[in-house]
Amino acid sequence: LGWQDIDIEDAIPGVMESSGRRQGGPYYRIEMRRGTHRHHPAMDPTPVWGYKGPSDSEGQFPGKTIEGRVNQPMKVEFVNELPESHLFDVDTGVHGTKLSDYSDRYPEWADQFAGPDEFPEVRAVTHAHGLHVESASDGLPEQWTSPDGIEGPQFVKDVYDYTSRQDPATLWYHDHALGLTRLNVYAGLAGFFLLRGPQEERLGLPSGDKEVPILFQDRAFEGEPGDGTPDRYQYPSNFQAEVSGDVSVVNGQAWPRFDVDPGQYRFRFLNGSNGRFFNIRLEAEDGGDPPTMYQIGTDLGFLRDVVPIGPAETTKSLLLGPAERADVIVDFSDFAGETLTVTNDADFPFRSPGASTGTGGAGLPELAQFHVRTGDPQDPAVDPTSLRLPGPERFEENATVQTRQMGLDTGSLNGLDTHFLDEEGGRPAPGEHWGDPILTRPQLGTTEIWELENRTGDAHPIHLHLVDFQVVGRGQDGTDAPDPTEQGNKDTVKVYAGETVRIITRFGNFTGRYVWHCHLLEHEDQEMMRPYEVVTGER
Ligand code: C2O
Ligand code: CU
Repeated sequence: LGWQDIDIEDAIPGVMESSGRRQGGPYYRIEMRRGTHRHHPAMDPTPVWGYKGPSDSEGQFPGKTIEGRVNQPMKVEFVNELPESHLFDVDTGVHGTKLSDYSDRYPEWADQFAGPDEFPEVRAVTHAHGLHVESASDGLPEQWTSPDGIEGPQFVKDVYDYTSRQDPATLWYHDHALGLTRLNVYAGLAGFFLLRGPQEERLGLPSGDKEVPILFQDRAFEGEPGDGTPDRYQYPSNFQAEVSGDVSVVNGQAWPRFDVDPGQYRFRFLNGSNGRFFNIRLEAEDGGDPPTMYQIGTDLGFLRDVVPIGPAETTKSLLLGPAERADVIVDFSDFAGETLTVTNDADFPFRSPGASTGTGGAGLPELAQFHVRTGDPQDPAVDPTSLRLPGPERFEENATVQTRQMGLDTGSLNGLDTHFLDEEGGRPAPGEHWGDPILTRPQLGTTEIWELENRTGDAHPIHLHLVDFQVVGRGQDGTDAPDPTEQGNKDTVKVYAGETVRIITRFGNFTGRYVWHCHLLEHEDQEMMRPYEVVTGER
């Protein structure tokens, strides 16, 4: 399978259409459905699961881009129209996949099932990653529905309130069902969610065809892709804590070579892999100088300072763990007729930047190419070296009311390789299980520091729902400065093997139940996720 040529304009996912209006804002009705998707002209269509908007005929992978505006009311309903059996084998050793994983905690709810066989194999719930919403609309792991209308034990409502009160940012939506997230996302249930607002529009960044969301993923296919046998996704039948693919899939296209104009682009990079880290560089032909990537934003909005990334800069590459985003400006105007390669030297599994040695078979050294069209150079929309970014205010460390010691551990459960979050006041290491009582109850409106101590040999991308946080320190004792590429509001932070990462946040906006977890989806599905609750009043 070689590079496939695609006009970059055709690689931009369409914008999700609304289905009318409700309570002063647009209303979106989005179905989760099966579909077929061709990843490459030399491949057959692959059965996928995706999100279907009003004008789609089947589930789309990736889903169309949901466009929201800061402070604008917005209602979204996700309807589970998936088949009743899964696209992949479901390992019922994984927590949350069978009735007995729920019956102790929700005995009355469990009574609706005549027996364990009645428990639905397919369950889905959609979470808007990075959007700050009420708990009932968060798409929490036990808020799932099944295709035949069974509601998970924490289900509250069908129509989510996505009204946001945060900065413009590159968000995404994806499945979050307990014990099935890794399979549902691998099947295709993911899309971009761009939150727009005046703070950003004032900057005059490249827009229209020059603003391109880029979703990096890896996939494995049965057989050799394009060998004439059906090109079905391959995912292990039995649970494995580390799963990677050997095919680079970008915006749903395998090995794309994007035709771009000799002009300036804004790319919204997202690592949407289950478990791969990507350490991204642009490389020119014959070792020439590539264009600089100017990073202007991270997960939840703009950086304080633009970070130039390139061989001649202090920051040589852009490392994105699963679920992390980077907003990047690249100018191809000096490269008419040339081809640039997006390379990746991150190991799989990933440990830490220093330990990155390139593991041969498990690596995915090239992700995509840009072929620059010939023609006159186009004027840039902005000069990234003089951009004044509306970066976030710093959370005040001296406002911290609580510091929590949280551990990332590894062990085994039911014979499965399992990772755990070890919270204060709970079980001895390796730590808590998903079903244990809630231990972490921040007070509404207060500032906390969480110290995430990684006692495992792998890096974990740790994600908190509801909040934006900032990285205070990392390294052996949590006192090294954060990387320039993460000096903004984050919702997911890489915690490397053996280090401690300190993050600070304020639990504002909403009370109620949320979760925090590792975004390596295989870890998340098998216990590396915990509920927490924002409360008011006496502790
Ligand atoms: Cu992107 Cu809790 O997830
Ligand atoms: Cu993990």
